[in-house]
Amino acid sequence: MSPKHRKDNKDLSQIHSELVMENLAKEIKANQGWMSFEDFFDFVMYKPGLGYYSAGAKKLGPSGDFTTSPEISRLFGKTVSNQVIALLNNFKSPSIIEIGAGSGKLAYDIINNLIKSKVDFDKYYILEVSADFIERQKQELSLLPDEAFEKVIWLDSILEVPVEGIVIGNEVVDALPFKRFTVVDHKIQEIGVSIKNGQLTESTRDADKTLGEEVRLIEKALNRDFEHNYTSEIRLNIGQWLKGISSMLKSGAILFIDYGYSRQEYYAADRKNGSMICHYRNTAHENPFINLGVQDISASVEFTLLAEKALEEQLEVGLFTSQSDFLINGNILGELDKIEDDNLRIELTQEIKQLLMPSQMGQTFKCMMLYKNISLDSFEGIRDLRHTL
Ligand SMILES: C[S@@+](CC[C@H](N)C(=O)[O-])C[C@H]1O[C@@H](n2cnc3c(N)ncnc32)[C@H](O)[C@@H]1O
Repeated sequence: MSPKHRKDNKDLSQIHSELVMENLAKEIKANQGWMSFEDFFDFVMYKPGLGYYSAGAKKLGPSGDFTTSPEISRLFGKTVSNQVIALLNNFKSPSIIEIGAGSGKLAYDIINNLIKSKVDFDKYYILEVSADFIERQKQELSLLPDEAFEKVIWLDSILEVPVEGIVIGNEVVDALPFKRFTVVDHKIQEIGVSIKNGQLTESTRDADKTLGEEVRLIEKALNRDFEHNYTSEIRLNIGQWLKGISSMLKSGAILFIDYGYSRQEYYAADRKNGSMICHYRNTAHENPFINLGVQDISASVEFTLLAEKALEEQLEVGLFTSQSDFLINGNILGELDKIEDDNLRIELTQEIKQLLMPSQMGQTFKCMMLYKNISLDSFEGIRDLRHTL
């Protein structure tokens, strides 16, 4: 085969990846041959025109790279919506703000359920970084009745005038940048990226003061020094991010649903390689240096850190529970019982098994609800995991 033919036959994603590598290599060179993993993540995930979230490939669902709860079952959004109706009913004209709305399915299912439940709302705002996802969301939400679609507003940045209601983020915190560190002979090293023989390679440097101090604080909280070669992740900027999210809310709640653990579990001795994971065409692996700009990279959420940052923002940690407890409390099984068509009910049963089973998403995924200027007891009776934080 001629070289030209080989080039023509190249997969489009491979061509995109090579373009990302070319640009990334220039940036690493300009940075004295080393880039922190966090900056690398920022580049391959968010760089305009190059990063995973700004490029056009289909990311979600069976033909994409990974599948999220709203993609698995439409009963997910319906149940989440059931859970927030009590909160919305506290306000005369509440709004919903969704962060990182993916394909728009969760937004569609929430709005649809609010309409059916006759819960009026002022606006449904979407804060989304990916131009490609915004297009998909517009297509999905155009299927709503016109009056409801007109209430959906896409935000370019943080909403300046705060609203009453709820902020929702499903699998968004796991997509935020993180630093990677490793401990060598009790010394904290930051993991970064350099280039060797034209290939990206992991390389470490002594951690700077901020990272070093934060890792020492974690050790103190755990009452244990990290073992030799212990490697993990930390989101140093999550407090700043949460501050921005919280500023959009006058009063109400922020609901995060994501996979992750309390600090004790996150940094458990046997989780010695951290939780970073890559997804490419529905296959999970641990190599962030391939499929540049066309694969998803994420890491589990350290919920204790999120709770600490919430307290700093005067938010109350109102709920921390597993996804399965949250959905069961929101009557997902009752919603299933309402389905009269036997075939559809069997199909939906399989879907919600994925959401609820402990071996699938039921226990690894957690729900955290943060209250601002409001206190509610609508989650009485739900299994409370706040003591684990
Ligand atoms: C893993 S996907 C989850 C999508 C959707 N919530 C779902 O559950 O199907 C992450 C989403 O967050 C968006 N995102 C990533 N970082 C973001 C940020 N800093 N602000 C807002 N959205 C972000 C992505 O574009 C994408 O829509």
